[in-house]
Amino acid sequence: MSYDIVGDIAIIKKPLKYNEEEYVKRILEKHKFIRTILLQETDVLPPYRIPKYRILYGENKTETINIEYGLKFKVDVSRCYYSPRLSNERYRIAKQVKENEEVLVMFSGVNVYPIYIAKYSEAKMVYSIELNPFAVKYGLENLRINKVNNVITFLGDVRDISKYIGYLEDRDGIIKNDKEYIRDIIDSGLEINNLYIYEYDEIIENIKYKKLRYISELENLEKFNKKFDRIIMPLPKESHTFLEYAIPLIKNNGIIHLYQFFEEEKIKEKAIYLLEKYSSELNFKYEILNILKVGDIAPGNYRVCIDFKVIKN
Ligand SMILES: C[S@@+](CC[C@H](N)C(=O)[O-])C[C@H]1O[C@@H](n2cnc3c(N)ncnc32)[C@H](O)[C@@H]1O
Repeated sequence: MSYDIVGDIAIIKKPLKYNEEEYVKRILEKHKFIRTILLQETDVLPPYRIPKYRILYGENKTETINIEYGLKFKVDVSRCYYSPRLSNERYRIAKQVKENEEVLVMFSGVNVYPIYIAKYSEAKMVYSIELNPFAVKYGLENLRINKVNNVITFLGDVRDISKYIGYLEDRDGIIKNDKEYIRDIIDSGLEINNLYIYEYDEIIENIKYKKLRYISELENLEKFNKKFDRIIMPLPKESHTFLEYAIPLIKNNGIIHLYQFFEEEKIKEKAIYLLEKYSSELNFKYEILNILKVGDIAPGNYRVCIDFKVIKN
């Protein structure tokens, strides 16, 4: 029986082995504290990697607080990606971070990796980039809940933020002119510090921001003007396509943790093939530190983390 427990919400994953009522009965018998049971009806969907759910039992609510490794994560599972299955992996990464490191977490969701790193390492500063305004909002709240004050959070696409990251301040955002996206930002209620835009549209006035600025202010400045000791890239389906943004930001001998989905067969060979391809395209050398299966997403299909050192000439 495959289901996740997130705080007081149970999430049942397809395919179902029994009928829905049987799941509800068994879950309630085993976990007395459950208030809501959701059925995950779709795979995770782009761009925010959230599936669609249907309520099978209990209160009509999707917000909860999950506790992992003594840390509290508040999340609305219908609005933000969150997986309780990755806690050991987050801890593994956090324990590798050395004193005084500056770490970049791309695709940071509700700030889960950044908070693990802030709490379980002596990192100097952690920077996080997330597209989903709801996740950024919960992420900021999670920093407060966990009393973390060395995480800087940005709203926007990794492709935009990474280019100008050294010029940006905490809670700054860079947004494209996409009405649906702007509506999400408005609905999330997120308060942005400097909001960088490409083009003006009056709908932007409904966003809560401190200062409205144009991206053209940044465009003539040096790009990729900050370097990190370590970059985490937890977007398994696509993270390799973002290496062109990560490589310019990593220090010589810095470490990248790149997540991928691989089928069982020849995982090591696939990881090496990928690094060979990108190291030649992006002109870097690499040393593989680890290739680890860190979970399965379907029978024979694994979430794999490739930890590698980047050597620049
Ligand atoms: C698989 S989730 C991982 C979230 C988080 N790191 C965690 O472990 O809970 C990937 C996240 O990347 C975000 N995302 C997708 N494309 C992005 C992009 N181009 N730039 C920034 N964030 C992006 C999604 O909104 C989602 O929250």
